[in-house]
Amino acid sequence: MNLREYLARQQRLVDAELDRLVPPESTPPETIHRAMRYSLFAGGKRIRPILCMEAANTVSESPDRAVAAACPLELIHTYSLIHDDLPALDNDDYRRGKLTNHKVFGDAMAILAGDALLTLAFQVLAQLDVADGAKARLIAELSTAAGTVGGMIGGQVADLEGEGKPPDAQLLETIHRAKTGALLRASLRLGAIYAGATEAQYAALSCYGEHVGLAFQIVDDILDVEESSEALGKTAGKDAQQHKITFPAVYGLETSRRMAEEECVRAHQVLEPFGARAVRLHELADLIVRRKS
Ligand code: IPE
Ligand code: IPE
Ligand code: MG
Ligand code: MG
Ligand code: MG
Repeated sequence: MNLREYLARQQRLVDAELDRLVPPESTPPETIHRAMRYSLFAGGKRIRPILCMEAANTVSESPDRAVAAACPLELIHTYSLIHDDLPALDNDDYRRGKLTNHKVFGDAMAILAGDALLTLAFQVLAQLDVADGAKARLIAELSTAAGTVGGMIGGQVADLEGEGKPPDAQLLETIHRAKTGALLRASLRLGAIYAGATEAQYAALSCYGEHVGLAFQIVDDILDVEESSEALGKTAGKDAQQHKITFPAVYGLETSRRMAEEECVRAHQVLEPFGARAVRLHELADLIVRRKS
């Protein structure tokens, strides 16, 4: 299976599981289920659940079973996008090639759809068929990564409060590691825990997750400058418009590209102990840095 076929296969697996997990649109109250499904099935890349499943596969060969542990990552991610797009945050009209959730369902329902996806994520983890110890670790990892101290919400706060501030390299790294890096790293960690990784395997996969996590947001910043809204499925050029602290703003495009490549090189290095088992993780690191959307 080449990389494209692999990605399409994994995306189908994730989509089928998400479809099973989210109540149908016909379940009352219908509006909230329509709003949740609207953003969830708008065509995301599913990179977080795919990384989670691949981490599990790298530890022990049972790749598809981990999809249940992987979907909560996509639920949290989609909630973060719906709220990120709200007028009170980044105020975006397009996401995943469609109108943003609040543009279709209104601000109140978009807030609730985000809340509902967040809540469902932990319901799914709580109902996983794994030992209690592992389940508690999965819940702790995901809630910490989505939280306020070094997690996604903390990063979003710093991102918003950073608007208009002078470019600052240290603040930039703190924002990016928190708002995007934490959930990416958690993706690897959830897969590792689910598959029963040793401490050394968990540490290596965490380290890989940290490098690809930072690279992912550096590239997101670069794409915001270089690509069209059509290619991205979201409004391009927003970061400069809103005076965000980004890699291109602090370092320029060329240095930003080099820094993303450096993170990618380090990600490859930490995979060495896994040998050939980690081929897909190597490919995914390259994909994260070379992607165009
Ligand atoms: C976009 O994430 C927001 C960031 C954290 C950079 P993705 O680029 O993974 O968005 P989707 O899920 O494919 O839409
Ligand atoms: C968003 O970062 C990170 C989240 C936690 C959602 P951005 O604001 O740069 O994401 P995009 O560019 O709107 O997708
Ligand atoms: Mg934002
Ligand atoms: Mg945004
Ligand atoms: Mg962005």
